[in-house]
Amino acid sequence: MAWGIGMLEVAGLNTYYGYSHILHGVSLKVPRGQVVALLGRNGVGKTTLVHTIVSFAKPTTGKILLNGQDITGHPTHEIVRRGIALVPQGRRVFRSLTVTENLTIPLRCSLGEESTIEPWKIETVFETFPTLRARREQRAGNLSGGEQQMLAMGRALVRGPQVLLLDEPSEGLAPMIVEEISKVIGQLAMIGMSVLLVEQNFRMALNLANNIFVMSRGQIVHESSPESLDNNEEIKSRYLGM
Ligand SMILES: Nc1ncnc2c1ncn2[C@@H]1O[C@H](COP(=O)(O)OP(=O)(O)OP(=O)(O)O)[C@@H](O)[C@H]1O
Ligand SMILES: [Mg+2]
Repeated sequence: MAWGIGMLEVAGLNTYYGYSHILHGVSLKVPRGQVVALLGRNGVGKTTLVHTIVSFAKPTTGKILLNGQDITGHPTHEIVRRGIALVPQGRRVFRSLTVTENLTIPLRCSLGEESTIEPWKIETVFETFPTLRARREQRAGNLSGGEQQMLAMGRALVRGPQVLLLDEPSEGLAPMIVEEISKVIGQLAMIGMSVLLVEQNFRMALNLANNIFVMSRGQIVHESSPESLDNNEEIKSRYLGM
């Protein structure tokens, strides 16, 4: 297995919101060019994990390693500059700005000298999501949910990340759009991007992931290949409500 550029590893993370202990010793690895899915019901701590990775929340113990380098507790802008990009749950595009403006804003924030990553051209985003090209002068607030998801992904991609964190990208989208987005995620992995896919859409995770982690109450309770999880009725019923 390749453990080169783009490997993300978290080990023993504990994260609190105030006195609420949310993450209890979470460990997982996302190898280069792989899609790793994180499944779990509402409120188990999936978003807290991705927020901890990009330093929106600080872990009390544990480590976050990018390509073997410790980035735990580093400021978010530095983590982004090093090549980790988050596509947040609920998309959070700038609704009053156009598609093009949404895509140029991240490029205006200088990547800085320390950056080891190559930003994407907006044209490459439009090649990836042709729908966005057709809508480029429209305000993001007028786009459909699927188009907003594509835009949210495009906004992360213009930074040329090595590691992409996707927080429930399929939430509220029609199956056809989920398929379209899945295809792109598969292509991103093929060009070497490492993807942590947080999902509640079991089928999507099954189709895309090389490896799947299941979370319950802030803990990883299962790790396996998609095939083996699909055959594990106990884990599916206990932790995924299937
Ligand atoms: N800012 C916050 N302050 C306090 N508690 C929070 C905060 N954000 C989340 N929580 C709590 O932390 C727990 C985990 O929430 P989190 O959003 O990480 O779950 P999730 O797995 O992403 O859920 P969902 O599938 O609904 O997005 C929940 O009990 C939630 O109420
Ligand atoms: Mg969430």
